Amino acid sequence: MDDLRDKYIQLIADAGSEAALEELRVAAVGKKGEISLQMRSLGKMTPEERQVMGPKLNALKDEINSALAARKASLADAALEERLRGEWLDVTLPARHRRQGTIHPISQVSEEVAAIFGEMGFSVAEGPQIDSDWYNFDALNIPSHHPARAEMDTFYMNRLEGDTRPPHVLRTHTSPVQIRSMEKHGAPIRIIAPGRVYRADYDQTHTPMFHQVEGLAIDKDISMAQLKWTLEEFLRAFFEVEEVELRFRASHFPFTEPSAEVDIRCSWEGGQLKVGEGDDWLEILGSGMVHPKVLEAGGIDPNEWQGFAFGIGIDRIAMLKYGIPDLRAFFDSDLRWLRHYGFAALDQPNLHGGLSR
Ligand code: DAH
Repeated sequence: MDDLRDKYIQLIADAGSEAALEELRVAAVGKKGEISLQMRSLGKMTPEERQVMGPKLNALKDEINSALAARKASLADAALEERLRGEWLDVTLPARHRRQGTIHPISQVSEEVAAIFGEMGFSVAEGPQIDSDWYNFDALNIPSHHPARAEMDTFYMNRLEGDTRPPHVLRTHTSPVQIRSMEKHGAPIRIIAPGRVYRADYDQTHTPMFHQVEGLAIDKDISMAQLKWTLEEFLRAFFEVEEVELRFRASHFPFTEPSAEVDIRCSWEGGQLKVGEGDDWLEILGSGMVHPKVLEAGGIDPNEWQGFAFGIGIDRIAMLKYGIPDLRAFFDSDLRWLRHYGFAALDQPNLHGGLSR
């Protein structure tokens, strides 16, 4: 029994892993382990022998078990030591200078727009930036031969030979979200859809990617008057002025009938734009009553429902509100510009706390 003891104590001391320890446990005190087999042979002994051997074997079993446990603990300690050595961190190193990020004016203005229309009962809808030409054009009553289709400077997606899917484009406006929202939710509906749009154009007032927010309100009795009120309320809240004056100019969009472009009264005293007063007018959005064909394309019966739609350039109204002169700077990722025009990260715009703080 002493040999057995010495053998296992030595093996346990030498075991280099938990798996090795487990093997030793099975070999010694497992069901068919050497010590267990010995214990089983107690039955064949005389009572006197058993009285001596029984306690001895039990003591041996206990000793082996504690040796296994002790070795297991020391292996775990060693592993932890090893890991701590590897993950060592010098907390006395000086911290890096803290840099506070800012919210980009486009994000800020999108949030402001959503906050205002949210108060009016509009929810925010989304659509894909790569869309089929059906959603981007046909469903909006812009057929293939229509001049508006050519004027959009559209980016077409590359097509592999034999591709049978309809051509896809980078959406040229947020208007296709009108169709997708009508398809999904039917009428009545009240949504805005802010997002990125793309046109092949680049100068001081055009970038190939820019932002619009689409608006759509469909119900039984929606009229041009509600469009006017909604836009006035929105612009007053957005520009944070008591009064705005709007001018609705007759215009043409294939997806609305009648259509109107909307100008806002403003002044440019000393190069500084002021909204709500002055002798100038600034065009800020397109709008109109949704064309019956567009309602039909969205699966809504034009004999039963009607409504208005509008499209606003987010970059445009951001430039106007925050006095940002060059559109291209929005997308340069110049840290000095971002710090200057950016907004505090934790100030969410809302109508009660204030839109722009
Ligand atoms: N989709 C138009 C554009 O990108 C803007 C627009 C005009 C949207 C009139 C509308 C609308 O919903 O009614 O130029």
